[in-house]
Amino acid sequence: MAIPVFIDCDPGHDDMMAIMLALANPAVHLLGISTVAGNQTGERTCRNAARVLTLVGETGVPLFRGADGPLCRPLVTAGDIHGDSGLDGAALPEPLVPVSPVPGAQGLAETIMGHGEAVTLIPTGPLTNVALALRGWPQLREHIREIVLMGGGVQDSNVTPVAEFNIYVDPEAAAAVLQAGIPLRVVTVDVTNRAIMDYQQIASLASGGPVSRVVAGLMQFFARANHNAFGIPGAPIHDALTVAAVIDPTVITTRSCNVVVETRGEYTRGCTVVDRYGVTGRPPNADVTFDVDRDRFIALMMEALKTLDVRVQDLQTGVEQ
Ligand code: BDR
Ligand code: CA
Repeated sequence: MAIPVFIDCDPGHDDMMAIMLALANPAVHLLGISTVAGNQTGERTCRNAARVLTLVGETGVPLFRGADGPLCRPLVTAGDIHGDSGLDGAALPEPLVPVSPVPGAQGLAETIMGHGEAVTLIPTGPLTNVALALRGWPQLREHIREIVLMGGGVQDSNVTPVAEFNIYVDPEAAAAVLQAGIPLRVVTVDVTNRAIMDYQQIASLASGGPVSRVVAGLMQFFARANHNAFGIPGAPIHDALTVAAVIDPTVITTRSCNVVVETRGEYTRGCTVVDRYGVTGRPPNADVTFDVDRDRFIALMMEALKTLDVRVQDLQTGVEQ
């Protein structure tokens, strides 16, 4: 039986890859998507999600637009990494799928609570929508099997010397989610920076089908931006590693730790303080990543893109007949 999942995201190149992996791999069943402001404004991240769904010909997954900014801070975006549109690097189709009139946090909560079995929630952006949903619908937690989120770092970071983007943007929301008492896997930037699609693999996509060709352009842009900013040799597909870990838990190695978020520090806003040696005596609240099976992860990603290529080719042939 496929694992029911719900993705809350801010597409974003790697968020797009998370959506694509979830749509293509039969081990998971994507129930819905909510978007949040993060990599770009709320308007752009939602539009990007709709464009991604349109690209792969997906019309059956509800899309909800969520928060336009963090719980109590001004929005910080990542145009330097994802471009002005939030998905620069290739021409994506104009969105043809509708956006639900139901607000993101409500859509997330009602979709999960309305499903017959407990759902895995996969947040790949700032945690604003998730925090709002847990606050507004307290019974939601009972319907969540686990949260598998991309965010934070043990030793690595990417937006300040000690903070990863998703946690930095809305640290209060992240703190609320970490304290919620829901089973939690935290996929950190320490390992996602190693979950790299290299230049050769990206180049190979350019000679693939209709989805792969678009993804090739987007990944080229994303790899270049990551090289310029961090010296990373390829495209770190941070967010899709969460979905891969739901499909195949062995793709990551985790350790049970206590994790808290710095919300007040003068220089340390959004730092995830991971007690990997148990020195604080605080009880573990998350399984935190320490390693990734990169080859297995990239193989899953490549396989997903091929599946979507075939799906879209079939749709196009059907339309022409
Ligand atoms: C995270 O920040 C965003 O830019 C990416 O989409 C990912 O979710 C990586 O730190
Ligand atoms: Ca993201």
